[in-house]
Parts: sequence; C-alpha cells; structure tokens
Amino acid sequence: MQDFALPFSAECLKSITGLTNIRYQDMNAWSQSMIDGIANYVGDPAVEARCHAATAGIDTAIDDMLPGFSKHADKSLLCVMVASGMPMASVRANIKLAISGGQNEPRDAIAGTVWALLTHPEQLELVRSGKIRWLQAFEEYARWIAPIGMSPRRIAKPWTIRDVAFEANDRVFLMFGSANRDEKYFDNPDRFDVRRDASKSVAFGAGPHFCAGAWASRAMVADVALPTIFSRFKNLRVADGPAVRIGGWAFRGLLNLPLKWDDILPSRSQSSRQ
Ligand code: HEM
Repeated sequence: MQDFALPFSAECLKSITGLTNIRYQDMNAWSQSMIDGIANYVGDPAVEARCHAATAGIDTAIDDMLPGFSKHADKSLLCVMVASGMPMASVRANIKLAISGGQNEPRDAIAGTVWALLTHPEQLELVRSGKIRWLQAFEEYARWIAPIGMSPRRIAKPWTIRDVAFEANDRVFLMFGSANRDEKYFDNPDRFDVRRDASKSVAFGAGPHFCAGAWASRAMVADVALPTIFSRFKNLRVADGPAVRIGGWAFRGLLNLPLKWDDILPSRSQSSRQ
C-alpha cells in the first residue's frame, strides 16, 4: 500500500488535477487533511487547522501553476476549467473536491484487488489467462468491499421509507457497502467472484453525485496498476505475518497488506530499449 498503491494514486491525481508541481506525499497528506476536516463533527481545532493548511497549500500550488498555462495547455482539470472561463473560486473548490475524493479510493481498490486475487488464485488465473478482464476483477472487488462504504446525507423533506419516517434536516448515512451485498441483486454476495455480473454495484455511487472520477479510476486501476503489478512482481504473494486488517466506514479498505516477491521484472518499454 505504501510502496505502490499510495504513490501511484497520488501521481495520477497530480496529472488529473494538473498540480504536477507538488510532491505525491503532499497530495496524499492534503487529501487526508481535507477528509478529516470534512468529517470533523466534534469541531477539533487541531483537525480544522490541518484542513485549512491543506487548502492553503492547494491554493498556493494552483497559483504557481497558472502563469505557465498558455504554454502548457493540457487536459488536466485545472487547465480545462480555467480555459472555460469558470470563476476561480469554483475552479479552486472543484480541484479541492477532486483531491479529497480521488486519493484514498484508488489506493484502497488497488491494494484490495491485489489481495483478493492473491487469496483466490483460481480467479487470478482466470484474469491472467485473459478469460476475465482486469476491469471485471476491479469492479467485483469494489462491489465486495466498497472503497466508499457509506456517505452522509441530510434529508431535504419529510419522507417515509419502509415504515421509517424521516424529518427534514435529519442526518442519514447511505450504505453503499450494504447495497453492494444485497441478496436481491447478487447471489452469494459475501463471496468475491470475478465471474459474477457486478453491473448493479453502486461502488461509484448513483444519481447526481455519481463519481466524477469513475472512468479515470477504471483506467488507473484496471488498465495500468493491476496489469503492471501482476506482470512485473515475480512470484508475488501474501507474506506470513500479521493478518490483513480491513477497516473504515466512509473510506473502507485494507489497513495493511504484507506482500513478498522474488524480483521486479523490467517493463515492456524498458526491455525493448535493452
Ligand atoms: C476506486 C475509485 C473510486 C471509487 C470507488 C469512488 C467512489 C465514489 C462514490 C461512491 C462517490 C459518491 C459519493 C456520494 O454520493 O456521496 C464519489 C464521488 C466523487 N468522486 Fe469518486 N471514487 C473513486 C475515485 C475517484 C477519483 C480518482 C476521483 C478524482 C479524480 C474522484 C472524484 C470524485 C468526485 C469529485 C466526486 C463527487 C461528485 C459529486 O458530488 O458530484 N473519485 N466517488
């Protein structure tokens, strides 16, 4: 998680946002500080201060990038939003939203899918042989252990669902993780099975707040991270030692992933240059 999934996720987020001027460590730390700030329901001043420091750091990084824009126009969020004439306050808010929403989930999905496949070797073989796509393995992992397990909402108007009455302004948690194990939609839902149809999964949410990074994540995880890890880490396996722990509600995933491998093989582009 620390050696690959975290830096990979943060480097991708640098390209996606356009903040290529920062270190991946800052991207990761700022994302976490904003997440903690958003969930600071008890109003801890230290948490709030770290969140403000993160947003100030992001604003400085945005300011640093702006002067070079006309020369380096690209398809990053920052470039596209600035070029569209969007007010700078909205540009800044959207960049911050992407950073708080785009770091932990791909990290957790990469580590989690690697672990799920290594502990279900017959399913790993199906993917390695090309019978099942890496994308399907990723989607099934995200159904099985949804990287966003739940999301809070405020009730807009009085409503009753299955005899439970809600008043306006009540706070509720939408449990994506529970929906993804609904027996009405998934047979044997507690089982990780790359062969199943995971299309009813709500791992990326649903409706107006559907994940803005869904397709970027599919490319990151299924087109790049998983094939790279499984082709370059020779004899990759789960190491003996402390058992894997899974935790978190809003952001849910593996808390540790001890792995071993025998060698790191050169990438295809490296070997063709030799
Ligand atoms: C495995 C990867 C990912 C998963 C499983 C995931 C999951 C989700 C979910 C469930 C939501 C809806 C939350 C809600 O309804 O309250 C969401 C929203 C969002 N996600 Fe992702 N996400 C992933 C990656 C990313 C990435 C890489 C980015 C940015 C580059 C991103 C940006 C966003 C944004 C901006 C929203 C808010 C959309 C809105 O409110 O309109 N996500 N994501």
